[in-house]
Amino acid sequence: MTTAIERTVTLANGAVMPTLAFGTWQIPLNDHFKSVIRTAIDLGYRHFDTAQIYNNAKLLGEAIRESRVDRSEFFISCKLWASHRSYESAREAFEAVCTQLGFDTIDLLSVHWPAAQGEPMVWQSQNAGIWRTLEELLAEERVRAIGVANFLPHHLVPLLARAKVRPMVNQLEIHPGYPQEKAAAFSRARGIAVQSWSPLGRGLLAKHPLLAEIGSAHGVSAALTALRWNLQAGALPIVKSTDPAHMRENLRVFDFELSEEEMSRINAMQTTAFSGLHPDTVNF
Ligand SMILES: NC(=O)c1ccc[n+]([C@@H]2O[C@H](COP(=O)([O-])OP(=O)(O)OC[C@H]3O[C@@H](n4cnc5c(N)ncnc54)[C@H](OP(=O)(O)O)[C@@H]3O)[C@@H](O)[C@H]2O)c1
Repeated sequence: MTTAIERTVTLANGAVMPTLAFGTWQIPLNDHFKSVIRTAIDLGYRHFDTAQIYNNAKLLGEAIRESRVDRSEFFISCKLWASHRSYESAREAFEAVCTQLGFDTIDLLSVHWPAAQGEPMVWQSQNAGIWRTLEELLAEERVRAIGVANFLPHHLVPLLARAKVRPMVNQLEIHPGYPQEKAAAFSRARGIAVQSWSPLGRGLLAKHPLLAEIGSAHGVSAALTALRWNLQAGALPIVKSTDPAHMRENLRVFDFELSEEEMSRINAMQTTAFSGLHPDTVNF
């Protein structure tokens, strides 16, 4: 008997988002890209995560249209890059991504990384500038929800102090071996849903012996064990795969449950598969 984890979540403003998202970062930008997306759509994925910097919006939009599944069934999430943090440039970037996608609206629009370095007054006002654009796009119903990514508590506090609307989502690197519990708990306590990026540690966790051992007790792989850990830890995974068998397997994340003891053993893992990307030290 598994504890049901719903396949959709309702965000703070009532927008409904599919729990499991399909990541699109670094899927090669060639004809193969569209066939990966089409396979994912055929298997049932409806939530796609892209970003201005991924430069794949045109191909993603084409693949969605070619599927002939109605746009209203999809949840498209996009993040605006560090080059477009000002109030004006953020709107330009949003319009450019919409044009590339071939859609007028985006379901979730987020700030990809916080401005976080140098003089706090300066970076805080940069984050407030882009946030004002996102709030306006929400009011204009060009986006259904707005969010942030990689915002730690000390980035969220000044943003929340100036925001009219709180972010509905915070996307963080979270996976076994890098749980980011404080940032996740801080977000959730403020009604901000937490998504996990690189939930498989960019694939590195697929061979982890502890995850393989725990997974074998459930007849599942180390990768699926890692994915399930994310869900039970309260992080909504954005998982990427170009392999149809893996895509199919990852949809089984809803079908089994890790025990408290298994969760505790995974929680106790040493830091593993951390990307090295920290918002206070990245060079963008
Ligand atoms: N907000 C941010 O700052 C941020 C940053 C990074 C990423 N993201 C988002 O998060 C998404 C996911 O992160 P990610 O792409 O870094 O890594 P990931 O989803 O943790 O891992 C992807 C890797 O895992 C492999 N994989 C997937 N399912 C598997 C399975 N069942 N068994 C074995 N291997 C499996 C894939 O290989 P195969 O192709 O062979 O399956 C791929 O190499 C990105 O695509 C992007 O949309 C957001």
